[in-house]
Amino acid sequence: MNTAARTPRHVAVIMDGNGRWARKRGLPRVVGHQQGVDRVHPVAQAFAHRGVEYLTLYAFSTENWRRPRSEVSALLRLLSTVIEAEARACLRDNMRLRLVGRVDQLSPELQAKVKAAIEMNSENTGLTLCLAFDYGSREELVRAARELALRGLSPDAVDEEQIARSLYTAGMPDVDLLVRCGGELRLSNFLMWQAAYAELCFTDVLWPDFCDTDVDNALEEYSRRSRRFGALPKGDTS
Ligand code: FPP
Repeated sequence: MNTAARTPRHVAVIMDGNGRWARKRGLPRVVGHQQGVDRVHPVAQAFAHRGVEYLTLYAFSTENWRRPRSEVSALLRLLSTVIEAEARACLRDNMRLRLVGRVDQLSPELQAKVKAAIEMNSENTGLTLCLAFDYGSREELVRAARELALRGLSPDAVDEEQIARSLYTAGMPDVDLLVRCGGELRLSNFLMWQAAYAELCFTDVLWPDFCDTDVDNALEEYSRRSRRFGALPKGDTS
């Protein structure tokens, strides 16, 4: 297969750099997260207007529980305060909201809010905005393996499709483009299965500064890539 990359169907973003954005201004880290939250909907709209169908944002990883308790609480509070407003904004803009990751560590109140938010716009037909919260690829794969075992699948019946259908992202296409802002060059346990053939794009821009121009730059970089999915470039048989 030799597919010229045009518009990616599924973009995933590691929203890094909130803490540094705040520190540079002499502000507490949590202000950076707040500022980061404010970028979520405008960036989702920018991708939607450019034809992207799925946008998955890494909001809280399974490893983020190791951060100071005050920061973890602040991130949970942020989710709790923004989820309803974000769901309403999605309803207005024909987007669907979805969450990937564990929910069982969240309080029953927050779980109920998340459920209500997802139900609010499930009929929409535009971009699916997927928040990865308490998400980690390894946890996701362990959970999938357990689910297949519980269903009593024989080893021969375990294949890529069965695994994909047991992931949090079931029903979503693989990631085409993975963007990490904040200057670090790693994947941090994010969508390791789904991004197996994703094009990677790293930028120094800190997430709270991420704007339409950065969306355009990432999509432009993607459009210049030649995706081969392990095959040779077309016509290269030497
Ligand atoms: C990484 O920045 C960012 C996070 C761990 C959290 C990302 C969360 C948001 C942008 C807010 C969205 C959240 C919700 C609840 C919808 P960092 O803190 O690691 O920054 P640093 O590398 O500069 O320290």
